[in-house]
Amino acid sequence: MTNVVRIFDTTLRDGEQSPGCSMNLAEKIEVARQLERLGVDIMEAGFAIASPGDFASVKAIANTIKNSTVASLARALPKDIDAAAEALKNAKYPRIHTFLATSDIHMQYKLKKTPEEVLETACEMVKYAKRFCSDIEFSAEDASRSNPAFLYQVFEAVIKAGATTINVPDTVGYTSPEEFAALIKGIKENVPSIDKAIISVHCHNDLGLAVANSLAAIKAGARQVECTINGIGERAGNAALEEVVMNLNTRRDLYGIDCGIQTKEIYKSSKLLSSITGVRVQPNKAIVGENAFAHESGIHQHGMLANKETYEIMTPESIGLTENKLVLGKHSGRHAFEDKLKSMGYDLDEAALITAFEDFKVLADKKKDVTDRDIEALICRKVVQI
Ligand code: KIV
Ligand code: ZN
Repeated sequence: MTNVVRIFDTTLRDGEQSPGCSMNLAEKIEVARQLERLGVDIMEAGFAIASPGDFASVKAIANTIKNSTVASLARALPKDIDAAAEALKNAKYPRIHTFLATSDIHMQYKLKKTPEEVLETACEMVKYAKRFCSDIEFSAEDASRSNPAFLYQVFEAVIKAGATTINVPDTVGYTSPEEFAALIKGIKENVPSIDKAIISVHCHNDLGLAVANSLAAIKAGARQVECTINGIGERAGNAALEEVVMNLNTRRDLYGIDCGIQTKEIYKSSKLLSSITGVRVQPNKAIVGENAFAHESGIHQHGMLANKETYEIMTPESIGLTENKLVLGKHSGRHAFEDKLKSMGYDLDEAALITAFEDFKVLADKKKDVTDRDIEALICRKVVQI
């Protein structure tokens, strides 16, 4: 089995479905260009049948992007597949991504179809999509709550019908890492034609496990992971691309998996998306949050100044940030304070440094963050400029 995992970004489709995250055509093209620079293998540009705007953006992205596969979502219906195929017709690497639910609850209440009908429709629609392009992904919606034996049957049939990627969505974010890994293992062991397709996973974050579930699935043999920048997506979102990728990169010892992402483009991608959508990233968000590389406590700052590896498991440079931040606040110690002064061009003698540090602590007790201006005001009478 290959040790490379494909990164399938769905920021422009599932991500855009999250409240407050809709984008216009120009914005979607800007994001798509950045995703191409980031090196995603596949970008899902939209859901062509959903609206004229979605159709236009899938088409425009398909015309623009040359280094990533461009996918459009389509329900398992001829009219959806026609729209997807038409929007993708100029793509250098097109993919039609069709889906149908396989869980009892979805089949009974949403589709009003028997399992036999679902199996037949899935096969027919994969065959139909195959007329337009060779790269076909089939998603078994709500796979994690489906009867595994039925899921194996559906996957075997759609692979025989021409699906090249079979996707296992945890549509409602219900599964756990152990359970999901067991499902992937079950698919590998019980779908005879599985070697002809790539196993993909698509995890939602309702219980906060989307990234953990995706990583467990990769360990169990999944070789495509679907994710979004900043983890945006329906409800609590999708697996965050930056978290999946940095886990794989930082813990090569654990996963032994590569991906083609240019990690130095991660921070820029995150910033671009939040500036376009106006949806801010929480400060303590892993990898791209404002505080992800910020250290305030004196003990941590002291350690960082001695050797960054004391408190840093990956470098800020690796995601495209220029440096870590030692934030001055009431928990900061003298080493960080002195370091800050030096970086601002000030060199205080020992006595001046002691009193300036005392003044700084008094101020820090009153103020959340102490800025460079505050520090200048504090030390202006005590400095010897260097
Ligand atoms: O969450 C889901 O099941 C989906 C599918 C359409 C892949 O987004
Ligand atoms: Zn989804």
